Amino acid sequence: MSLQSISPTGGIQPLLRAEGVSLEYGGTRATHDVSFDVYRGDRFVLLGPSGCGKSSLLKAAAGFLTPAAGSIAVNGAPVQGPGPDRIVVFQEFDQLPPWKTVKENVMFPLLMAKRVSRHQAEERALHWIAKVGLAGFENAHPHTLSGGMKQRVAIARALAMQPEILLMDEPFAALDALTRRKMQEELGRLWEELRFTLLFVTHSIEEALVVGNRILLLSPHPGQVRAELNSHQFDLASAGSAEFQAATQRIHGLLFGAAAAVAPAQAVSHATHAGQRSMGSGLRRNDGV
Ligand SMILES: Nc1ncnc2c1ncn2[C@@H]1O[C@H](COP(=O)(O)OP(=O)(O)OP(=O)(O)O)[C@@H](O)[C@H]1O
Ligand SMILES: [Mg+2]
Repeated sequence: MSLQSISPTGGIQPLLRAEGVSLEYGGTRATHDVSFDVYRGDRFVLLGPSGCGKSSLLKAAAGFLTPAAGSIAVNGAPVQGPGPDRIVVFQEFDQLPPWKTVKENVMFPLLMAKRVSRHQAEERALHWIAKVGLAGFENAHPHTLSGGMKQRVAIARALAMQPEILLMDEPFAALDALTRRKMQEELGRLWEELRFTLLFVTHSIEEALVVGNRILLLSPHPGQVRAELNSHQFDLASAGSAEFQAATQRIHGLLFGAAAAVAPAQAVSHATHAGQRSMGSGLRRNDGV
């Protein structure tokens, strides 16, 4: 089988650790006892159907939502609120203040964080605007840009902050299919170059396989961990392959099939982190998934 669930050999601390996280809204449980580790350089995907608590988990990691039980830590320190080490890119195109130009939008959090001078913020903004392919649009206002271009600005703004972990909540879901594919490709290209750590939310199985190297499957009401899988062998180029289709079917079965209805959430294992690309010795195959 192409997807395998394996354990890290230990010794390396996760960059982000979610431990037994239960999230509630006014007594209604959105997630129950969710645990996962994100290692430096991971492209870690939270995948599950609508309402399983993906956005809530991302908000908790960002520090916008406090767990009712459990904890989230970054570099061993509990998350106690939002911080410049965790920057979020949302799905909505209106996440950019419309009165600011592209350059001003990218500069804004840099200036707010008081990390750099105005001159340095401008230099950095121009660098990242070019990196996401928007050179020439520095002085444009958001309403003059396409949806894909607005998402590029949001990505440039996030990466310019050089966060420890980039949090993305369905950032391409509102784009047309072709643009979405292009953005997935460009995110992959940026990751190849920069090796940032990504926590990415989607409800698209295909997108999870293309974007992620590790995928956490969540079942809904309340969101619980169904399984954790490695998916680093897939990219856009392999998207049509038989192996890719088989992986898609398998995940679909895990999420929605008969097994999903009866299997307990204990079918969880901890997959390898980004630094462990091979399935070689020291890594344990887990047949629970
Ligand atoms: N602000 C809120 N107040 C009350 N309940 C909420 C709130 N936000 C989310 N919920 C509930 O928590 C659960 C998880 O919601 P969440 O938005 O995290 O799911 P999701 O997996 O991101 O779904 P989608 O794929 O539709 O974005 C849902 O049952 C939802 O109704
Ligand atoms: Mg959501």
